[in-house]
Amino acid sequence: MSTILIVGGTSVVGLAAAERLAASGATVHVASRNPGPLAAGLTAHRVDGHDAEAVARLAAEIAPIDALIVTLAGSEGSGRLADLDLAVLRGAFEAKFWPTLTVLQAALPHLAEPASITLVGAVSAHAAMPGTARIGALNAAVEALVRPLAAELAPHRVNAVSPGLIDTPWWDGLAEEDRQAWFSAAAKLLPVGHVSSADEIAEAVVLVATNPSMTGSILNIDGGVRFARF
Ligand SMILES: NC(=O)c1ccc[n+]([C@@H]2O[C@H](COP(=O)([O-])OP(=O)(O)OC[C@H]3O[C@@H](n4cnc5c(N)ncnc54)[C@H](OP(=O)(O)O)[C@@H]3O)[C@@H](O)[C@H]2O)c1
Repeated sequence: MSTILIVGGTSVVGLAAAERLAASGATVHVASRNPGPLAAGLTAHRVDGHDAEAVARLAAEIAPIDALIVTLAGSEGSGRLADLDLAVLRGAFEAKFWPTLTVLQAALPHLAEPASITLVGAVSAHAAMPGTARIGALNAAVEALVRPLAAELAPHRVNAVSPGLIDTPWWDGLAEEDRQAWFSAAAKLLPVGHVSSADEIAEAVVLVATNPSMTGSILNIDGGVRFARF
C-alpha cells in the first residue's frame, strides 16, 4: 500500500485529491498549519510548510513516502502594476514559493525510491490576463521547478498541474455576492462554460502523482482560461 503526504491538503483541492487516493487504498497524510476535523481514512498533521524541521520530522515518521503533493497557497489577490505594492508580491512568494521549496527539500530524504512529487501552479503563469503579473510570476516560479527537478531527482518523477479558476476558499477575500458574480461572468467567458470544481483538479493531481510515465510535465487543466479574453 502506498504512502502519500499532501501538504496544504486540508483545503478543498488537496482534500479532494486525498479522498480520491484514500479511496484507492493509499495511506494518506494531509498537513497544514491549522488542520480541522477530516473525513475518516485521512490522517491530519499540524505542520507549517515554512518549518523545514517540522516537515522533516513528519516525513521521517511516515517514510517511505511514495507520493509527495504540495497544494499549499497564500491568499493574496491580483493587482495592476501601477497599484502593486511590491511588499505584497514578496509576501506572495513567501506564502507559496518558499514553503513549497522548503517542503520539497525537507521531505526529499524520506521519499521512497522512486517516488512522485506533484506541485500546483496556475494558469496565470501562461495566460496574459491584465492584473495577474504578480501571481503569474509566482506560479511561473513554482512551475519552473518541475523540469530541472525531474532531471535532477530522477528516478523520482516531478510534475505539476496548472489550474484555472477553482471554486475554493482561496476566493474568500471576495464578498459572497461579488464572488458569485465573478464566477458567473467568468463561466460565460470560459470555453468549457464553467469554473472548475476542486474535484476536477484533484483528478488531474492524482493522474500526475500516480502515472508511472509522467515526469517533467505541467498539466494545464484550466477550462481554457488561456484562450478566453478576460
Ligand atoms: N482557487 C483557485 O482559483 C486556484 C487557481 C489556480 C491555482 N490554484 C492553486 O491551487 C492550489 C490549491 O489552492 P486552493 O484554492 O485549494 O487554496 P486554499 O483553499 O487557499 O487552500 C490552501 C491550503 O494550503 C494550506 N496552507 C497555506 N499555507 C501553508 C503553509 N505555510 N504550510 C502548510 N499548509 C499551508 C492551507 O491550510 P492552513 O491555513 O491550515 O495552513 C490550506 O489547506 C494552490 O497551489 C493554488 O495556488 C488555485
